[in-house]
Amino acid sequence: MSLVIGADHNGLELKNIIIEFLKGKNVEYEDLGTKTSAPVDYPDIAKKVAKAVAQGRFSRGILICGTGLGMDIAANKVRGIRATVCHDLYSAERSRKSNNAQIMTMGAQIIGPELAKKLVEVWLNSEFEGGRSAPKVRKIMEIEKENFS
Ligand code: RB5
Repeated sequence: MSLVIGADHNGLELKNIIIEFLKGKNVEYEDLGTKTSAPVDYPDIAKKVAKAVAQGRFSRGILICGTGLGMDIAANKVRGIRATVCHDLYSAERSRKSNNAQIMTMGAQIIGPELAKKLVEVWLNSEFEGGRSAPKVRKIMEIEKENFS
């Protein structure tokens, strides 16, 4: 698995905490910013990370902003991307096992660092199960084909 991570200024501190967590687990990652506290527009970071995943440069991505919502909406505008907000452990697991989401988003103004680390751990260790979920994910891709030029 190859991992890319990004955050806006509201997510910067939590991103740095997650990066330290990844290092402790020997998980390799690339940090696409932001790297300073200067305000940035979350769609710019979401686009960079989501495109890197959609182009196959990374298999998974993590995006953090204040709520996780803007990053989620923006990442899902990149063709081929399934991004989900993960603020509870069950959703983190199911987003991989059922939805085959390649990107998880989190809101630093909503969850604390300990939960965020646990969410990342569960999400990294969960894989798409296929089976009855596979045709549904294929249908999502069909909707995308019909509506994304
Ligand atoms: C700030 O731009 C804030 O809107 C952002 O961090 C995020 O919460 C967006 O959904």
